[in-house]
Amino acid sequence: MTMTPSSTGFESGIHSNTEFAQSILAGLTAPQKRIDSKWLYDVVGSQLFDTITQLDEYYPTRTELGILRRHAASLAEYVTDGTALVELGSGSSTKTRALLNALTGLKSYVPIDISQEHLQDAACHVAAEYDWLEVHPVVADFTAEIVLPPPLANAPKILFFPGSTIGNFEIEGAAQLLRRMRRMSGVTAFVIGVDLVKDTDTLVRAYDDTKGVTAAFNLNLLTRINRELGADFDLERFRHEARWNSRENRIEMHLVSTSAQDVQLLGQTIHFAAGETVHTENSHKYTPGQLEGIAGQEGWLVRQIWTDADNLFGVAVLTPDSG
Ligand code: AVJ
Repeated sequence: MTMTPSSTGFESGIHSNTEFAQSILAGLTAPQKRIDSKWLYDVVGSQLFDTITQLDEYYPTRTELGILRRHAASLAEYVTDGTALVELGSGSSTKTRALLNALTGLKSYVPIDISQEHLQDAACHVAAEYDWLEVHPVVADFTAEIVLPPPLANAPKILFFPGSTIGNFEIEGAAQLLRRMRRMSGVTAFVIGVDLVKDTDTLVRAYDDTKGVTAAFNLNLLTRINRELGADFDLERFRHEARWNSRENRIEMHLVSTSAQDVQLLGQTIHFAAGETVHTENSHKYTPGQLEGIAGQEGWLVRQIWTDADNLFGVAVLTPDSG
């Protein structure tokens, strides 16, 4: 096991409080109030998300894991001498293990995450468990240009982007990510998890569970703003809502103001009409055809889309289209 942390600019994952303040203020003074979903993941939010992944109603995590376990060995055809497994994000070590267990010809594992803390944690655990593997965490924002350190820059790589995290991006953002990854050299395959379009009931229940964990996850944003920015949101006067937007093929999370009210935030008064919402997250769902279309446009060939027996989730294997 070798651990060589490196940074491509961010000293740590800790955001400056000004960035948080500006983002929240801008979002809550817009005509459709919104909060960027990246702020959901403070310590409490990350714990709540972990709990969500184990809920009966939240099918994506266990379904994707099942697909990966079933098919991981067939990815061996993309492993050549010195191949690195490059993961976008590092919050999914169980899924990573499904690949590492099946692909013992890999040379190294390169988790990329904006949070230094998550990264070190995930990397240390994997390094301790797989003594034949070089682990090389990279602190970077994978929604911007990723610069890998020299030995990795030209190494053959399998890119791994599980969790349907791509669903958080608008279609143009997802296309941009595919475009940027296409410019990375040495990529033999891009393995990407996408949640599939399905009946509205199943989708809404996955984002509005009976135990109220997703509601707590969403409402925690207000607790965080109260704590970190000294706002006075009354948690009793907002409720969680998950809606299916059929035009955009996405689940939207909103926080609904249950009455007309004013909230004090950073010296400003934010007014809420009764029923007005703050839009807090998008989770786009794809059809296999749609995924093929967007990947094709950005220079990728879709080799496989593995799914489960109920067609809930898809794991796509893309290769660079050199034609
Ligand atoms: C981590 C973005 C994939 O969209 O399903 C789960 C986040 N939000 N329940 C998703 C989430 C509410 C999750 N992702």
